[in-house]
Formats: sequence, C-alpha cells, structure tokens
Amino acid sequence: MSVRFLEEYGLFWLDTAHTSYVIKVVDEERFPGHVYYGKKIRPQDAGYLLRTEEPPFVPSRNNRERAAFYDQFPFEYGGNGVGDYRESAVAVEDENGCRATMPLFTGYEILPKKPGLPGLPATFDNDGGTLILHCGDAHLGLEVDLLFSVFEREDVIARSVIIRNAGERPLFLEKALSMSLDMDAADLELLTLHGGWGKERQIDVRPIGYGRQSVGSLRGETSHQEHPFLALKDRHADQNAGEVYGFQLVYSGNFLAQVEKSQMDSLRVVLGIHPEGFGWELAPGGEFYTPEALLTYSDQGLGGMSRAFHDVIRDHLIRSAYRDRVRPVLINNWEATYFDFNTDRLLSIAECAAKLGIEMLVMDDGWFGRREDDSTSLGDWTVNEEKLPGGLKHLVERVNALGLKFGIWIEPEMVSPDSDLYRAHPDWAIQVPGREPTRSRNQYVLDLTRQEVRDYAYGCVASVLRSANIEYVKWDMNRQLTDLGSVSLPGRRMGEFSHRYVLGVYEMQERLLRDFPDLLLENCSGGGARFDAGMLYYSPQIWCSDDTDAIERLKIQEGTALAYPLSAMGAHVSACPNHEVGRVTPFETRGYVALAGTFGYELDITGLSPEERDAIPGQVALYHRFAALIQQGDYYRIASCAENHEYDCYMVVSKDKKEALVTYVQVLARPNCRSRMIRLKGLDPDAVYLVERVERGETRLIGGDLLMEGGIALRSVPGDFRGQLLYLKADE
Ligand code: DGJ
Repeated sequence: MSVRFLEEYGLFWLDTAHTSYVIKVVDEERFPGHVYYGKKIRPQDAGYLLRTEEPPFVPSRNNRERAAFYDQFPFEYGGNGVGDYRESAVAVEDENGCRATMPLFTGYEILPKKPGLPGLPATFDNDGGTLILHCGDAHLGLEVDLLFSVFEREDVIARSVIIRNAGERPLFLEKALSMSLDMDAADLELLTLHGGWGKERQIDVRPIGYGRQSVGSLRGETSHQEHPFLALKDRHADQNAGEVYGFQLVYSGNFLAQVEKSQMDSLRVVLGIHPEGFGWELAPGGEFYTPEALLTYSDQGLGGMSRAFHDVIRDHLIRSAYRDRVRPVLINNWEATYFDFNTDRLLSIAECAAKLGIEMLVMDDGWFGRREDDSTSLGDWTVNEEKLPGGLKHLVERVNALGLKFGIWIEPEMVSPDSDLYRAHPDWAIQVPGREPTRSRNQYVLDLTRQEVRDYAYGCVASVLRSANIEYVKWDMNRQLTDLGSVSLPGRRMGEFSHRYVLGVYEMQERLLRDFPDLLLENCSGGGARFDAGMLYYSPQIWCSDDTDAIERLKIQEGTALAYPLSAMGAHVSACPNHEVGRVTPFETRGYVALAGTFGYELDITGLSPEERDAIPGQVALYHRFAALIQQGDYYRIASCAENHEYDCYMVVSKDKKEALVTYVQVLARPNCRSRMIRLKGLDPDAVYLVERVERGETRLIGGDLLMEGGIALRSVPGDFRGQLLYLKADE
C-alpha cells in the first residue's frame, strides 16, 4: 500500500509511482500541516519543511502570535474566522450566527480501497489505499474527515471531505470545498480553460500575482465560460518537460478553482463547490459529502499531467459498457436539417449513410410535441406524428432494417412555457415565487431538487427508450440556471438548491445506467457547457462544442485534451461553409480532426458532392483502423496552432509503444519554405518504425530515436487547412 504513517517521523506518507505527498500533525493542538507534494522522494524526516521552529512558532510555544501562526501555517484544510485570512476551505455558522471553524486532527485510518461518495460521481478501484485524516472542531461539535486516495500507477491523488455535525446544535455550512493545498510559491504560472458558446476550453496562461486569482461558475453547470480545472506550471514548463501541478473537480455544477499568493509568498490552491450562494443545513447527525478533486504532479510538463488525468478518468471514472469499445460511427441530423425533418427526410439520410458505412442515425431536436423551432414543447416527450407517422417504433425499425443503429436526442431537464407539462405544472419550473423567471432559448429549467419532478422527467426518458430499439441517447441541456427557488426548500435552505439540482441530474443518469446498461449515453449542454469529469462518470463521451469547424475544433480539442481523454470527446465532420464560422476546409481535414474524438458526421450527406461522398467509406475505415489506438493510447501534443497560428500537431502512442498515429494540420500555407521538421514523442527509441504517410500510402523505416531527436519532414502543401496523418508501426 502506498499510504503509510511513518511512526519515527510522525509523517503521513503517500506515494504514487512518481510523486510523494506528505502530511504532518504539529503541536499539542494537532494542526494538520501540509509538508510536501511533488516529485517522488524517499521516506525520511521531511517535517522540517514546515519551519515550525521559525517565528511565529506553534501556539504552544508562542500563543502571543497565534493569529500569525494561523495565517501562514500550511494547513491541509484551512479553517475560517480564527486568524487564517487566506481562503478557507470550510466555513460554518452556528446557531448564534457566529462563524469560527478550525478543524484539528483527531485520528486517522488507512483503508485498502477507496470508499464511494453517496450520490456523487467518484473515481474507483485505486491501487494505493486511502488515508482518512479525522479532524474536528470540538467547539462546534463538527467532524471533518479528509480523504486522500492514491492511484499509484496513474500518479493521481483523489481528495474529498466528509463534514458531520456530531454535536447537538444545528449548524449551517456556508462553504465546504473539496481540497485546499498550501505550497511554497516557486516560479509558477496559472493555466486555466476559459471560453463561451462555440469556443469552449481555450487555454489561458497568466503569472500568479499576490492575492486571489480564480475561475468559477455560478451558472448551475460547469459552463462554457470557465472550467473546473487549473494547473500551476513552472514558467519554463512546456508539453514535455518542467513541473506542473494539475487539479480538477469531479463535479458538474457551480465551482470555484482558485490560487492565492500570500504575503509570505506561499500559494494556496482551493477547489470545490462555489461558496457564493451555497449553504447547507447540518442538523445534528447530518453529513455533507463534498465532490472529489483529482490532483496530479508531473515533471514531464503539461503532457505528463494530461496523460495522468486521461488514465485515471479512462480506467477509474468512466463506467459505461462502451468505455473500451469502439463507438459506432454516427450521423446526426442537427446541422443537416435542424428542426425541419420528417420520416422520409431521415430515411433518405439513413439510406445514404448505410451505403457509405456509417453505423448509426441520431435523430436530434424536433421530434416531439409541436416542436418546429425552439419556442415550444420541451417536457412533452411524445412523438410528433405529423413528422413521424407511425411513431418512433416504425421509424426505428426502418432505420434498423437499413443496417443502422438508432439514437435519439432528448433534453429532460427542461420545460417550455408553451408546453402541456408547463400548463399542468407551472410550479415545476425553477422560479422565485411571484417573479417571472428569465427565459433562455425560450425555456425554463425543471426543478430537479424535487423527487416528483425527477421521477416524471426520468419516466419520460425511460418510456421513450422502451418504445423502440434505441441504442444511444444524446442528453442535452441548453440553458443555465437562474431565478433559483423551490417549494422543496424552506427559505433558510435555499443555498442548497444548486448542489441539490446537480445531485438530481446525477440521480437521473444513475437510474438510466442501471435500467439501460447497454445504452451509449452522450452528454451535451448547448455544445460543451457540461463537459466535466462528473458527467464522465455517467457517459463515456460528451459533445465537445457546437462549433464543428475543423480549425476551431483544433483549439477546443487541445484545451479539452489537457484534462480529458480523447475517447471522451464527441467530434463530427460537418458541412462547409461551416455553420458557425463560415470557413471552408477540405473534407479530408475535417475527417482527420474528428478522428481525435468519437467520430461521426453532422451534415446533409444526401447533398454532398460525389467526391465528398466517395471519401466517407475511407474515413469510416480510418476510424475503425485507429479508434482503439486513439481511445486507449497516450496523448502527446507536439505543436499548437492556438500558439503558433500556423500549424497543429498531436500524436497518440499505444501503451506498448508499438503503434502511433500523428495528426498534422497545416493551418496556413507558407511561401518559399522547406518542409517542417516535426520531432515525435513518446516512441521507443530502440524500435524501428514503419512510417506510413496515410493519404499517400508511402512507407519508410525510421528509428524511434531518429524520429524523436531528428524528426520527420512534413512537406508544405499548397492551400490552407490541409491535414496529414502518419501511422507508425514498430517493425518486429
Ligand atoms: C445543442 C446541441 O449542442 C446541438 O448539437 C443540438 O443538439 C441542439 N442543442 C438542439 O437543440
């Protein structure tokens, strides 16, 4: 087991394959102190890193400066209101309205396995054991259990917290973050992912100044705008080398991810449910489980961080039966027809798709109620028989008869004001009593904190699925939360709303997995607004963005792949001029870029040029040839067009280093230049690889060492947005 208590040094010592995390409890008052997190070191007496022999000293030696001690000691989980003025991890209001919390160590347990988190997504099956530090605030009767689970092979530590009211008085949680980590500030920069609709997860790097710098969401979902992830990187760290700390939250609602540089040049990183608007009543005996945070450290640059996160998410978070299966190549009718379709139109797409080797038709928004545009019918999940006479069963049977699977779009969390559901249950929409809720895309959000509303919404999904042979669901969520109010919660407890909403979504998706274990679920939120590790616990793939332009996708997929495996990214070939940006890119390049995710089409294939149509069987074959490698391999980023504006390059290497696929996109053509020399990564230096230029079929044997140190020449081709693929196979 990689979790140990080293008696001789009084240290809790957590090791992964390449990292160590060290904790020490100090002073008679038993402050849980953070000693070290970083590159693996041998177990030894590392406690001096806490510098408790320097002023302001521990309180038992110098109670005069207790506040100064609190304000600079590296706490494993910072308290609130007693002298540590940095961002606290937990804040509690007592029955007198007073706030002061200081969790002190009371004991520990070491478990061989990682316990689950009730109602929450969580990683599982760790190989390194779990440390539970029992802490508490005796004055409040509060117990705080800090959980650290070690994924030794993946170099990841999962942290979460259980907060319990063990006293007899009611308590009110005002803040309950998932982790806090104090460290001495080296020369680090902050890397976060920001965006908006159609431009999710763009990489942003900035220096860390004094004070607090954060990203967060108060939108009820993780959001297009900011992301529950941050990395601290050495100023000189790049994709290959240099120190990087990565943090992400396994959660799908409001979050705060923050770093704070203190007066003493230390850093405090916190991650968890956003405290703004949050509150949770903790009656005597009550418990609160925070979502889990994943931490990793790498001295192999950003690439090392990404590969650790990919491995832990792929192998220890995603549960779907499809996790290790090659996903069916789908065609989605959204960008082909939008709301304007009927059985004949869908069947003409399906017939054409079947002939070209596509494996599944997904019917998107517009099949139910009176839905001809986005102004109506959400909540009325009965088939529009004018569009689809004979109903779903009839349509699905005909699609199946063509040899295609069938998938369906649904948005179960929503209700249109113009719907039978809303007319019957206006109080089921989230709203502040007496105030008209703000509309977004003409719709309201259902109050999923209420069991009867969840039961109804889930019942609709289940009965649609039972009505025909439906093998895939795209679960959409097209607006963010406003006007928070619910009859399920008395006024004082309204701060529980946003978290309870997320728990409601999780409960519904858990039921879906249990009742339909073979279903392929793809989450989606107006594009990629709820692309997070929380949702990956329920669906093995998530729609990355409504921006399907191949060049915009390079940037979106680069940011997404910083934290998530390629197997999770929904990516489609779409029409040109592209519907989001009007750009025209070669069909071939669109295919190459979509290969980096779960591959599919989203365009009117019946109206394609003969050349484009003829290209589809070859693209489908490429996907099948490379899908397992892309899903399971190690990801290496070689160049980023977001940085250099000229070209993009990334590769995937199989775990045994016997195969690799390199994707190169020349974004802008250059005049008068030689070929571009690309140095590959992650190969076996001693192997000799048969390098195949996929579009030309040319092959050549080259040593792994030469490919990595000297590189491979990629010739400039006329025209912008031109892609190339290289497939490498070790010669045996
Ligand atoms: C947003 C999704 O991202 C799109 O792909 C499409 O499903 C629309 N919603 C439908 O309303």
